[in-house]
Amino acid sequence: MRATPRADLLAHARSVRERAYAPYSAFHVGAALETSDGTIIEGCNVENASYGLTVCAERSAVVRAIAQGHREFLAIAVAGPDGSSAAPCGACRQFLIEFNPSLHVTYTTPGGIAAATLDELLPHAFSNTHLP
Ligand code: THU
Repeated sequence: MRATPRADLLAHARSVRERAYAPYSAFHVGAALETSDGTIIEGCNVENASYGLTVCAERSAVVRAIAQGHREFLAIAVAGPDGSSAAPCGACRQFLIEFNPSLHVTYTTPGGIAAATLDELLPHAFSNTHLP
């Protein structure tokens, strides 16, 4: 069964999207991460003149959460510009799966809102179980 989108969490993602630093792509993205104690931690994309250094909204939320002492994440919502798809990129899927393969992911699509679990979005993932 498909996961049910989290409209409440997506509202946080849409709000922080306004603070994205995206002068090169103009593609403003916000992310809201829910921790196991109910804390909501927001992130936005941060671009750079050296384009490859860009940090996505999802990873900026995770880095901020870890620095604040959170390591258990239940859900994330990602909002791109209205009418766009903001399904997490491959790098962000890998970054997130480190912490919870069952993470609930809500994201904007051209048709509305979608949701899935992270292991649906990144099957056969590489993880620490593959390390010696
Ligand atoms: N971006 C994100 O913040 N999250 C994603 O999952 C996909 C892409 C950002 C990176 C870049 O600043 C802009 O969107 C266009 O790729």
